[in-house]
Amino acid sequence: MGDRTASDGARGAPAEGEPTPSPSETGRFRCTGGVERPAVPFRIDGVPVLGRDGDSLLTAILCVRADLGALPPDPRRRAGFCLIGLCQDCWVRLRGRGRVRACTTPLEPDMDVLLDSDGELW
Ligand code: FES
Repeated sequence: MGDRTASDGARGAPAEGEPTPSPSETGRFRCTGGVERPAVPFRIDGVPVLGRDGDSLLTAILCVRADLGALPPDPRRRAGFCLIGLCQDCWVRLRGRGRVRACTTPLEPDMDVLLDSDGELW
């Protein structure tokens, strides 16, 4: 199992049989350590991706994507700002759980994050 390089835009490569981040997406964050932490599978708009045990949901998302998408009706794409639960720029939807602040929500296995999915209003 080899790790992805920084230019891949993602952290440690998944082991054989584990979900693979989309190669077309580039993460905003780069993990510079802790890749030995257990992988935590979750989904973004139905695409299986991996975070790491101990990540916040925001960290896990931004390691595989450049942003969180827009928060309608504002068309601007967001990526969080304060990372400590103050700015309100990181709200995301979780299937079956409603809205959460990604920066203060610990990543859990099998979370189903809805960022760009249409048809469901905030
Ligand atoms: S990034 Fe500011 S509240 Fe989450």
